[in-house]
Amino acid sequence: MKLSMTPQTVHLIDQYDDGENSRHYTFQLAQPTDEIIQPGQFFTLTLPNFGEAAFTYLTPPNNQDQFQALIRRAGSLTSELFNTQTGTLLGYRGPFGSGLWPIEMIKDKRVLFIAGGIGLPPLATAIATLLEQDSNIGLIYGSRNPAGQVLKLEREEWHKQMPIIETFDHASSSQLTGTPLDHLDTISQKLGGEPEAVLTCGPEVMMSAVGGYFAGKKLAEESIWLALERRMHCGIGLCGHCYFGSSYVCTDGPVYSWAEFIKQQNRC
Ligand SMILES: Cc1cc2nc3c(=O)[nH]c(=O)nc-3n(C[C@H](O)[C@H](O)[C@H](O)COP(=O)(O)OP(=O)(O)OC[C@H]3O[C@@H](n4cnc5c(N)ncnc54)[C@H](O)[C@@H]3O)c2cc1C
Ligand code: FES
Repeated sequence: MKLSMTPQTVHLIDQYDDGENSRHYTFQLAQPTDEIIQPGQFFTLTLPNFGEAAFTYLTPPNNQDQFQALIRRAGSLTSELFNTQTGTLLGYRGPFGSGLWPIEMIKDKRVLFIAGGIGLPPLATAIATLLEQDSNIGLIYGSRNPAGQVLKLEREEWHKQMPIIETFDHASSSQLTGTPLDHLDTISQKLGGEPEAVLTCGPEVMMSAVGGYFAGKKLAEESIWLALERRMHCGIGLCGHCYFGSSYVCTDGPVYSWAEFIKQQNRC
């Protein structure tokens, strides 16, 4: 894996709104790459005068070196990105991260994905990889309200291929309400049994509740996985911005097993 501080160039080649304050982006690398992106890895975008921020690959670079991301407007850099015209050149570094979704370990298990809000995009490459392998998987997607949902087109495709429960904190009477944990019995029925592996991404409070619940149900700690977000600067383990316990999220994460998450949390 190339770990470099020097950005390469990417073209912003397509963008469309996808959820409240969120946009679906397609980029094309100016330099062809033969690097294989693993589910869980991330990249950074540099916007001149605004700095650099980390984002997850929604799809890895294809044979035309195009890849996608789902980006939510958070502050100055992402607001500038939302004002950026299609065709603009931007800086790119990646791929980063060696803590990855454990595809080989779980592909023959009953796998439950639990996403909260903008936590769905970091699960997308793992979902796509397991669907390609005909694994038995399901998804519970929790959002504050319907406007907070992202990946509309991807979810429409996934609905044809796996059970998905979409639940809201605030919803109309025709929609499901409650947290993802309120719908475990229903998804287990659809999966044909209780999950044997759980992959989760969303607000840390949600991931802690999910991990604690399944650890309490005696699911092996190595069968529960989550992805963390931390403020990042170098992305290559040099600056210390992304410390989590004695680990760096940029190089040791962003995906952690529940056992490792608890160990590092106790060191914070
Ligand atoms: C590994 C990784 C993958 C990510 N993937 C995605 C993705 O696919 N899509 C996406 O929209 N965002 C993703 N993010 C978050 C994204 O990097 C931040 O939203 C971005 O840095 C915001 O930059 P900004 O200058 O617009 O906002 P800022 O002005 O820097 O921040 C705006 C607000 O968001 C908070 N914030 C910013 N970054 C983070 C963070 N990393 N964690 C918690 N709070 C934060 C700030 O504290 C502040 O309150 C990812 C972050 C990491 C570390
Ligand atoms: S971002 Fe610099 S050490 Fe992780």
